[in-house]
Amino acid sequence: MIKETVLKLYKSTEIQQFLGLGISFMIAWLRMSFGMRNFKYIDTIKKTVESECPSTVSCADIIALSARDAVELLGGSHIEMKMGRKDSLLSYTATVEDFIPNHNDNISLVISRFQSIAVDIEAMVALLGAHSVGRVHCLNIVHRLYPTIDPTLDPSYAEFLKRRCPTPDPDSNSVEYARNDPETPMVLDNMYYKLLLSHKGLLLVYQQLTSDPSTLSYVKSMAANNSYFQDLFARAMILLSENNPLTGDQGEVRKDCWYVNAR
Ligand SMILES: *[C@@H]1O[C@H](CO)[C@@H](O)[C@H](O)[C@H]1NC(C)=O
Ligand SMILES: *[C@@H]1O[C@H](CO)[C@@H](O)[C@H](O)[C@H]1NC(C)=O
Repeated sequence: MIKETVLKLYKSTEIQQFLGLGISFMIAWLRMSFGMRNFKYIDTIKKTVESECPSTVSCADIIALSARDAVELLGGSHIEMKMGRKDSLLSYTATVEDFIPNHNDNISLVISRFQSIAVDIEAMVALLGAHSVGRVHCLNIVHRLYPTIDPTLDPSYAEFLKRRCPTPDPDSNSVEYARNDPETPMVLDNMYYKLLLSHKGLLLVYQQLTSDPSTLSYVKSMAANNSYFQDLFARAMILLSENNPLTGDQGEVRKDCWYVNAR
């Protein structure tokens, strides 16, 4: 489901053509976590920057800095992000498809996907905390509610979710969602980890963060200390944004974010 949404975005906008893998992944992650539904704002920013300072700031940098600002607007910490990325001439669609985790992947698969783009386990646990903001479609939850309730779910929380998702076969086009973090839905904070520890994780893979010994200690530390979570989240965003960037003579600065420059 995550992958479908993300790929729809990539196909409809050709966004993949100018992004390195790390940035693509970051966008995918932000999109599903923070519900950034379209990228028109990128064009607005690009137009303003071009009018002041033509052919200087890449679209990849604009996206990385937009991600940084989105995190800050949602109450996260300020992330020191480097600039100087170039836009790619290549398509990354196939690669991105291989790396983005699915909603129903198990924890070991999710860990290995993140590791393949140089995101370690501690940083991965922090990135999943982006789900402190946002919501999940009932389609991805009902298998934990029907026909029987997943025993790893808190029973009263399961009853609450059944009211949000009243049928075992929700229509994918209908607006049936549950929020990840009903307590502070629009704040990027460590509430996500507190909910996991009280068996209120929406997706199975979230709940598995508490059953896998390699991730449980990080979940506990992040639940106990919001500053630790914020520091780790910032570090993880930097890891993503610096994964394999094009710099110097590589690539180009696009004039239009959605197309390679004419030559
Ligand atoms: C996780 O999923 C992968 C791929 O579907 C599978 O090969 C692996 O055995 C699973 N691991 C566990 C612990 O369930
Ligand atoms: C919380 O995390 C911050 C940042 O990592 C750290 O400096 C601080 O000592 C931690 N506080 C406690 C009580 O562990």
